[in-house]
Amino acid sequence: MAELGHEVIGIDVDPVRIESLQKGIAPFHEPGLDALLRENSSRLTFTRDMSAAADASVHFVAVGTPQSADGSVDMTYVNGAIEGIVPYLSKGDLVVGKSTVPVGSAERLSAHVTPTGALLMWNPEFLREGFAVEDTLSPDRLVYGIPEGTHGETATSILDDVYAGILAKDTPRLVMNFATAELVKVAANSFLATKISFINAMAEIADVTGANVTQLADAIGCDTRIGRRFLNAGIGFGGGCLPKDIRGFVARAEELGVGEALSFLKVVDDINMRRRARVLDVLTEELGSLAGNTIAVWGISFKPDSDDIRDSPALDIAESLARSGATVISADPEGWKPAQARVERAGLEAALSTTSDHRTAVTGADALVIATEWKVFQDENPTTIGELMSQRIVVDGRNCIDSRAWKAAGFRYRGMGRS
Ligand code: UGA
Repeated sequence: MAELGHEVIGIDVDPVRIESLQKGIAPFHEPGLDALLRENSSRLTFTRDMSAAADASVHFVAVGTPQSADGSVDMTYVNGAIEGIVPYLSKGDLVVGKSTVPVGSAERLSAHVTPTGALLMWNPEFLREGFAVEDTLSPDRLVYGIPEGTHGETATSILDDVYAGILAKDTPRLVMNFATAELVKVAANSFLATKISFINAMAEIADVTGANVTQLADAIGCDTRIGRRFLNAGIGFGGGCLPKDIRGFVARAEELGVGEALSFLKVVDDINMRRRARVLDVLTEELGSLAGNTIAVWGISFKPDSDDIRDSPALDIAESLARSGATVISADPEGWKPAQARVERAGLEAALSTTSDHRTAVTGADALVIATEWKVFQDENPTTIGELMSQRIVVDGRNCIDSRAWKAAGFRYRGMGRS
């Protein structure tokens, strides 16, 4: 928002996060974000004081909506943010919801906002971690969920002014009611999750038939109706969005009495979770047993160029290996930092250590699992790596390395749906 030319006040309850942002340092790893914070520092302030919202006329609510224990969406933070902001709203202000919420939330929250004379709209966010800056400044679409009637027109025109710099680039802008906008977000993530689980189901078939799932994806992806993107088979999807969004969507559909319509998403989730177990099975086949072996895992964060370890398949696999009696060393250029505290909380620090250096991790290891496709891992020289290891076994959990080169360096190569 500051890059688009606006004066911005960032409000959060976390003092550590605010302190970091005040110094111009993003509290998480996201390419390009620190530079933007520095370049726009004259238009940016950060505070824990909610009353600072009184100085603004447009209020974005972008707090997290984590998964509750029963799979439904935990709305505590969204409800708290709306409740916190209401005393500082003025007539004509606009509150813009960005958080991913169960369908029906905007209608409900609108009843809290409108008595102040302010308006509420819902404007879901589609950015990908690792590309957050690019996706925010050049999104492939803007979705506006608006109230009915003239209020909707007023809200649309205010948000058009906010996004003028983006709309000037001919970015498609789709205007719809609250429920549709809320559904667009979860439907998009459900579709992406389904696409990944579809190709992972094909990987299961490929593993028993000798087919190669990468070649299969390349071939079906040539059909523009299918498309090649998001057809990378491997250890499946993780992170703070796809897994919890499909579960939250199922929970909401069940509440609405249409759970059957989304029963396929439970299968999507099951296929996804089987991918993690598959790595342990392959390692057991190769090593005879997991207990007593030392296993290096390259990757901790749920995807490259991120330090986000929420529901990370890589970290989940490392923890399962440690629980199975293996000694595990996990390496990740960024994810190693947040991982340490989680490993300690899980009581696994004796069996699972973390490092930023992937070569340290493989030294003396009996097998290597590649669990997150960081470029630095893909560029690694297999001969050098082989010389550091006790046994040359590699499980390519992301089908991201050159299998021929690794085999030529003496490795037993096991891919996910390809050999
Ligand atoms: C996802 C969506 O892609 C964004 O559009 C959305 O805005 C965001 O969630 C959100 O709801 O906030 P993100 O979680 O950053 O973005 O990550 P993705 O790039 O979607 O990847 C998710 C997971 O799927 C990762 O673990 C990745 O490794 C995995 N994946 C992705 C595959 O296993 N195969 C693929 O072909 C693609």
